[in-house]
Amino acid sequence: MPPIIQIRGLTKRFGTLTAVDHLDLEVAKGEIFGLVGPDGAGKTTTLRMLCGLMDPSEGSALVAGHDASKESQAVKDQIGYMAQRFGLYQDLTVEENMVFYADLFDITGQTRDDLTAQLLRMTRMEPFRTRQAGRLSGGMKQKLALMCTLLHRPQILFLDEPTNGVDPVSRRDFWAILYQLLKDGITIFMTTAYLDEAERCNRVGLMHKGKLIRCSTPEVMKAETGTSTLEGAFIKTIHEVEGVARS
Ligand SMILES: Nc1ncnc2c1ncn2[C@@H]1O[C@H](COP(=O)(O)OP(=O)(O)O)[C@@H](O)[C@H]1O
Ligand SMILES: [Mg+2]
Repeated sequence: MPPIIQIRGLTKRFGTLTAVDHLDLEVAKGEIFGLVGPDGAGKTTTLRMLCGLMDPSEGSALVAGHDASKESQAVKDQIGYMAQRFGLYQDLTVEENMVFYADLFDITGQTRDDLTAQLLRMTRMEPFRTRQAGRLSGGMKQKLALMCTLLHRPQILFLDEPTNGVDPVSRRDFWAILYQLLKDGITIFMTTAYLDEAERCNRVGLMHKGKLIRCSTPEVMKAETGTSTLEGAFIKTIHEVEGVARS
């Protein structure tokens, strides 16, 4: 089976800044891939290009069999994108937010009711159906955003720092949902600044100044760099590419 995401030389320039620099990467169906890097590394820009929301300056990305730039609508139909600041309506309830997003995707009637009920059950958000989004905890807000992203049953889920600022218990909850989605065959491409979270991905890509400086399974990454943590592997890799002498 061909990879569900195929990225070739993907590049984005903003004036003189190269935010994403000749990215090559493939992601297999059913995989959870984690793109890790500090602020400004180019993670969000990469996701936006993969989701057909921004054209690359150079290179291409095939996502679910379609060119993300030339066939962006076909890509959008197959994917769910949860932005770093997902747009929830704070004064609408959980259920009303879901109805709003269902309408956007033209999901109506019994299908909408069934999907909404199923998602509320999966995320254990049923008790909060009638609570205003603005009154939810950070973790519950992220669950609601995830539900809205899943309403049109995407094949691939793109999550931009989905657990940023979420407490540890809610983060564990959120991960339980991600594992459930993987079991159902969804592919997940996420970004995170948390290296303990990256550890849970099948494969991890380290991004630094627009470049993918290392990409493999967490185990291989640690073995290759002779470190016991991904944090150590990341620091060592940055030192290598920056030509800093190792202490
Ligand atoms: N629309 C834009 N115009 C100009 N510069 C941008 C734009 N979007 C992102 N950048 C710059 O590109 C770089 C990468 O940003 P981003 O992809 O948001 O990184 P990350 O998500 O890893 O924090 C940063 O230096 C950022 O300031
Ligand atoms: Mg970002």
